[in-house]
Amino acid sequence: MQFDVFTLFPEMFPPYLDMSILKRAQENGLIEVNLHNIRDWATDKHHVTDDTPYGGGGGMVMKPEPIFAAIEDRLGAPPDCPVVLLTPQGRKFSQKIAIELAANKRIALLCGRYEGVDERVRQHLVTDEISIGDYVLTGGELPALILIDALSRLIPGVLGDPGGPVDDSHASGLLEYPHYTRPPEFRGMKVPEMLLSGDHRKIARWRRQQALLRTIQRRPDMLEKFELTEEDKKYLSNLDALEAATDQE
Ligand code: ADE
Repeated sequence: MQFDVFTLFPEMFPPYLDMSILKRAQENGLIEVNLHNIRDWATDKHHVTDDTPYGGGGGMVMKPEPIFAAIEDRLGAPPDCPVVLLTPQGRKFSQKIAIELAANKRIALLCGRYEGVDERVRQHLVTDEISIGDYVLTGGELPALILIDALSRLIPGVLGDPGGPVDDSHASGLLEYPHYTRPPEFRGMKVPEMLLSGDHRKIARWRRQQALLRTIQRRPDMLEKFELTEEDKKYLSNLDALEAATDQE
């Protein structure tokens, strides 16, 4: 998958992308990240990319000309792939949206700065707008990195373990079960006996129950949309009964 990032701060990307899994994914040709500095397409002497807003008010707005020029120069006019603007006004990013976007061979990410981009960019160049949550950052660079990370790990071969993305919290619709590794006892805290048993069927059932328990405790909203098996329902109704009994004590 190819990512084309359009930003005023391309230097922000390599420190994160050139490490660990994403570094290997690039070396293996599974992902390619091309960084484009919008400033390079500003034609005036000082390479200005922002200006004051019409109508007054505070802050600066990113000018349309260098953004159109950069994206059309790199991707054609009109661009031949989705152009995603990172903005707190976009649709809220989720695992579902990550899966949807990862189906593209190529994707352009446009990082807004200051008060945002000129509205004509939004209306006539951008094809999708994504927010990473209901809070405001200083720019779209961290959100773009988050998108690149979440999409890349869905590409076959990027993660060593092919089961990884299937069991992930959110991928299955449940939060993931708890993980333990050696030692079996640390400062008196023990690994649940079940995981040391070697009985894989029982371990799978325990993990499923732990995932259900975590989800109901932390994200009951997720369970509302989740299709429970008969065994899940039995487990949850036993939990209810147990809770009712403890309440009465
Ligand atoms: N730019 C600033 N804040 C943002 C957010 N929450 N999501 C995406 N882009 C942003």
